[in-house]
Amino acid sequence: MSARAPADGGARSWKDDVLQDWAANRGAGKSRLIMLLFRQVARWHRGPRRPWHTPVTAMYTVLVNWVLGVELPPGTRIGPGLCLLHPQAIVINPDTQIGAGCTIRASTVLGNIVKSDGTITGSPTLDDGVELGVGVIIIGPIEIGAGARVGAGAVVVHDVPAGGVAVGNPARLVSDHQESPA
Ligand SMILES: CC(C)(COP(=O)(O)OP(=O)(O)OC[C@H]1O[C@@H](n2cnc3c(N)ncnc32)[C@H](O)[C@@H]1OP(=O)(O)O)[C@@H](O)C(=O)NCCC(=O)NCCS
Repeated sequence: MSARAPADGGARSWKDDVLQDWAANRGAGKSRLIMLLFRQVARWHRGPRRPWHTPVTAMYTVLVNWVLGVELPPGTRIGPGLCLLHPQAIVINPDTQIGAGCTIRASTVLGNIVKSDGTITGSPTLDDGVELGVGVIIIGPIEIGAGARVGAGAVVVHDVPAGGVAVGNPARLVSDHQESPA
């Protein structure tokens, strides 16, 4: 997925997304369950409404958000193959865009900022293959380029280039290029 392309647009099917999520979360039953339920409610969210969608989506929120501790709203655009490692205390704003093959760990927040004048910023975009360490916070309309990695505990307030490695609070680049293939 390119930076600003819709993660749910194009030729991909619901089944492709589910299969790729399933493969990305091998050995992690909780992550597989969350992604499977997310894909179903996200599909309903985009399509024509049926009477059972509202109560089942409410049950999804109760189970995944309240019980399992992962706030993953049905309107969030997420490419296939999202890997959730140790999924708890994760908060993702519905305006966030997540590309294909990304990894998100526990205690991650992807959100917007309410400015002092009351205006609200956009939310982050993760391009394909982005890996976030545990406890990462990314706030505002920040773009994390394809294949970039963000270190555990980082607070990211500026864009990270494709292939870059960012660490710390505020995050700084410790590498700004992708390693060449061997
Ligand atoms: C950021 C990360 C991807 C970098 O890995 P890497 O490319 O191998 O980089 P290095 O280990 O060579 O570290 C590069 C520099 O960043 C620093 N650094 C690495 N991770 C850091 C972090 N999370 N916070 C602050 N500094 C960090 C290193 O100390 C080093 O600094 P130096 O050059 O001054 O010595 C990795 O350290 C990381 O944080 N991965 C996430 C792991 C995680 O969340 N595990 C939880 C499992 S549940």
